[in-house]
Amino acid sequence: MIIGLTAFVQTRPGRATKKVWPYDGAAERMACILLCRGWWFVSASGTGGGKHQDRISVSIMLPPPRNSGKPTGQGFAHGQAEEIGFRPKMRMNEMDMIRPVETPAAPHVTISGVSKTFRTRKGEVKALSDIDLTIRRGEFISVLGPSGCGKSTLLMLLSGLVPSSRGSIRVDEKAISGPNSDIGIVFQQDVLLEWRSALQNVLIQAEIRKSDLGSARERAQQLLKMVSLQDFENAYPNELSGGMRQRVSICRALLHRPPLLLMDEPFGALDAMTRDQLQLDLLRLCKDNDMTVFFITHSIQEAIFLSDRVVVMSPRPGRVERIIDIDLPRPRRLAMREDPKFSQYTHEITDIFKGLGVFREEV
Ligand SMILES: Nc1ncnc2c1ncn2[C@@H]1O[C@H](COP(=O)(O)OP(=O)(O)OP(=O)(O)O)[C@@H](O)[C@H]1O
Ligand SMILES: [Mg+2]
Repeated sequence: MIIGLTAFVQTRPGRATKKVWPYDGAAERMACILLCRGWWFVSASGTGGGKHQDRISVSIMLPPPRNSGKPTGQGFAHGQAEEIGFRPKMRMNEMDMIRPVETPAAPHVTISGVSKTFRTRKGEVKALSDIDLTIRRGEFISVLGPSGCGKSTLLMLLSGLVPSSRGSIRVDEKAISGPNSDIGIVFQQDVLLEWRSALQNVLIQAEIRKSDLGSARERAQQLLKMVSLQDFENAYPNELSGGMRQRVSICRALLHRPPLLLMDEPFGALDAMTRDQLQLDLLRLCKDNDMTVFFITHSIQEAIFLSDRVVVMSPRPGRVERIIDIDLPRPRRLAMREDPKFSQYTHEITDIFKGLGVFREEV
């Protein structure tokens, strides 16, 4: 007898993916399917007493996060077996029905009920209100919102440099209670030291951390090469263009291989063409460095182009208004900006801002 198992695997909170695993075995006995597909591993076992009574449970090794060779852990799916009739013994190619499903990467950052109120001489300023957001490991998440809605404040809370007024932030399940040194930060201004060469500016990260300068130098040179600055290692900041300076500051932020990169409008001060190139450089660096990126921007197109998800915030006090999944393939190519799907996302986000009164079109 052939039993078809319909398992529901949750790929994202609130969503379910239906998969069918062919399952060969008498209903009375335990059965097991083991399948190796590189990192993809499925085992299923079932017991039962007769027609429609078989219960099967499936355990799945989750695919590795982007850029990592290792599986993230185990996911579990439970399903009700259903009899689908007699068929010849299952052949291997039927296994091809089993495809890797998109699975949730482990949460890297969990923001729960976070609010921030600044106390100033003129009174209180409520910058953020009840922010709930889970950032997955290896995810590129962008935050869009009108000026003053609390984007930079949220980034500072993530860095641990500023405490929240309410709620909690956990990174790798550990509550943040002070400055987090396991991060990289890039701001709109490159804040390079004018008296140090590009290479020395990158190396400052290792000097501050008192890490081995020999290997840091090697890594710094590698990073500068990745952003096409290998011929400018010894140039001083005043000999570099705005885009080159920002590339140096990104390399400085990545020197110690931070698992979490926080970027606050890093390309905001650059011209459009340089900005396009830096977006591509950043995506390449992300691919090679396996990290989670929290990216603030005012550009809807930039957010869509770079991200796995875009968080749209309301005007102050900032709340998470909507989170939009960007279902565009990677690697991202500039031509994707002409894709009708890309325009759809642009319209969707623009409409949210119109609804919030951020954009007003009447004259
Ligand atoms: N250190 C501070 N002390 C007092 N108020 C502050 C402080 N930092 C931020 N604020 C206030 O919090 C609110 C949010 O500021 P924030 O800089 O986070 O906004 P933003 O979304 O990053 O804006 P922009 O897009 O213009 O950079 C603003 O009203 C700002 O005046
Ligand atoms: Mg800001």
